[in-house]
Amino acid sequence: MLQSRLSCSLLARNVFGRGGRWWHFALIFAVLLWVSTSTLTPRRFRFRVFKSSRPVGGPRSPVIRLPGGPNDLWTGRANEVRKAFAHAYRGYQRHALPYDELMPLTGGRVNNFHGWGVSMYDSLDTMWLMGLDDMFYDTMEDLAGQKFDLPPGEYAHFFEVVIRYLGGILSAYALSEDPRLLKQAEMLGEKLLPAFNTPSGFPVWGVNTRTGDTTYGGHDAQATTCMAEAFSNQMEFKYLAHITGNAKFFEATEKPMKAMYGREHIMHGGLFAKMWDLRTGKPNQTDFTAAGCTDSAYEYFLKQWLMTGQKELKMRDLYVRSANAIIEHLLYVGPRRQLLYSTDLNNGAATHHFQHLTCFLPALLALGTHTPGLKLSENEKKRHQWAAEGLANTCWVVYADTTSGLSPDKFVMEKWGEPERGRWVERVAEWEEAQAQNMKLGTLPPGVKDVKPEGEEKARGYTASADMYLLRPEVVETFYIMWRTTGDVKWRERGWAVFQALEKNTKTKYGYTSVRYVDDRNYKPYQKDDMPSWFLAETLKYLFLLFTDEELVPLDKWVFNTEAHPLPVFNWTKKEIEDYGIDVS
Ligand SMILES: *[C@@H]1O[C@H](CO)[C@@H](O)[C@H](O)[C@H]1NC(C)=O
Ligand SMILES: *[C@@H]1O[C@H](CO)[C@@H](O)[C@H](O)[C@H]1NC(C)=O
Repeated sequence: MLQSRLSCSLLARNVFGRGGRWWHFALIFAVLLWVSTSTLTPRRFRFRVFKSSRPVGGPRSPVIRLPGGPNDLWTGRANEVRKAFAHAYRGYQRHALPYDELMPLTGGRVNNFHGWGVSMYDSLDTMWLMGLDDMFYDTMEDLAGQKFDLPPGEYAHFFEVVIRYLGGILSAYALSEDPRLLKQAEMLGEKLLPAFNTPSGFPVWGVNTRTGDTTYGGHDAQATTCMAEAFSNQMEFKYLAHITGNAKFFEATEKPMKAMYGREHIMHGGLFAKMWDLRTGKPNQTDFTAAGCTDSAYEYFLKQWLMTGQKELKMRDLYVRSANAIIEHLLYVGPRRQLLYSTDLNNGAATHHFQHLTCFLPALLALGTHTPGLKLSENEKKRHQWAAEGLANTCWVVYADTTSGLSPDKFVMEKWGEPERGRWVERVAEWEEAQAQNMKLGTLPPGVKDVKPEGEEKARGYTASADMYLLRPEVVETFYIMWRTTGDVKWRERGWAVFQALEKNTKTKYGYTSVRYVDDRNYKPYQKDDMPSWFLAETLKYLFLLFTDEELVPLDKWVFNTEAHPLPVFNWTKKEIEDYGIDVS
């Protein structure tokens, strides 16, 4: 420091001559300030934003130019999302790390997922894709030495740990090829394996990562599991088996899949029950839904097949049958604005409930129809595409309708006087028949067209049954996949509108927060003081990818797990096919 003060005063003398006393002191002061802040600021608070090259494989770091270039509009918007991510993650880093999540209003911290720092793990691949290299490597240091241990009597929630922690580590490994991540993935995978020790092979709710004790958890004493909790680990464990060469990971995760290939569990021609018995591996009741509790199971049928190079045809057939059955039995169109939605069926009766969570479905259908190897018939393909478009329009308009521009979490949809009149496949068939008779009904069937926003609550065709927005990603995920598969810029514009609503209503001093009362005319939404890690893993990642012109994560080379962690498409080797007994017929 002495050195710099000396040379600085010499410099000042040279530049300003004898008369430069005032400048002399100002310069000394500025240099002292610079030296002290740069030595006092811990390494983790610094990051470089722009970077152009990657040391290793995986998608390259984006070169986001500042506005002024040929694509200044969208590159500028991508950059705004990156700034939002940096704001949110730095808030977490300064105030909450190594706890799981930040409390963004008060600057507090909370452990929701076993205290292993879930926001770090969920953020790694987003940092990589955004080109935030310093932040990535600082975070690698922050999570070094993690043992994923728990005291006896505490249980890790298997499903959440797989999709957030394991998925996050595997994706960051695939992108950066950093061997430290491979070691952590293998260790965590080993510690989670006891969850599969049930007579059916379906994983239990929770596992103690030190002793291997397990619990039925939330469904305790009942020995049942949600469909989604049993079938949202196959992408992670299969990729883990591939990169470690450890057959145990493959065998554990494939055992419940084998039960799915049998026809006896399929109802309504392709739907799977919500709840299953862990002892017998049989359905425990006959409620159906595409929302929470089954959602990502359907998602992983398609995505396992995509990730493992489209060779396992049983998996493809499982997806096609399920998607057809969802379209046939769960999709309804409302009477007022012809909003397309997916209902729950409880004991055979449609509830006409719809959830923000179900907005993953248009993305899934669009991804499927975008894949030639799926081999849909012309008729199926049209229905899948229309359903994706119609559902995505509904998922947009529930944002556009509200005063905040953010969507409620749950809805009750208006039904027809004769409710079955809303069955979408029947309306489509009717429309096609009329179309065949040249009745000039336009080029799109009911439930597919764009819908205008409606400020008047009574005229909307639904009521909100949970008026909160939890920073959820499903709708921007759908915008991203719709944009990539259709090229229609309206999906980007809608994503930008959502981002602006996020900035306006959810940004706080420390990060971004969930809000309540998204549609109150008199008040700003009430801020809830939580920032779920999926906001960093999914919401901001999909928005960023929606705005970058370059396709950083090509859909034919990468597959997103249900927490938006991209895993690479790979082929099983000959040895794996033999050792694991994989059916690639
Ligand atoms: C579902 O599980 C519960 C609790 O184990 C049990 O009481 C009920 O009989 C089961 N229902 C069916 C249809 O298996
Ligand atoms: C997988 O194998 C197919 C040939 O069956 C090949 O075209 C493709 O490039 C391979 N994919 C990868 C990721 O190696």
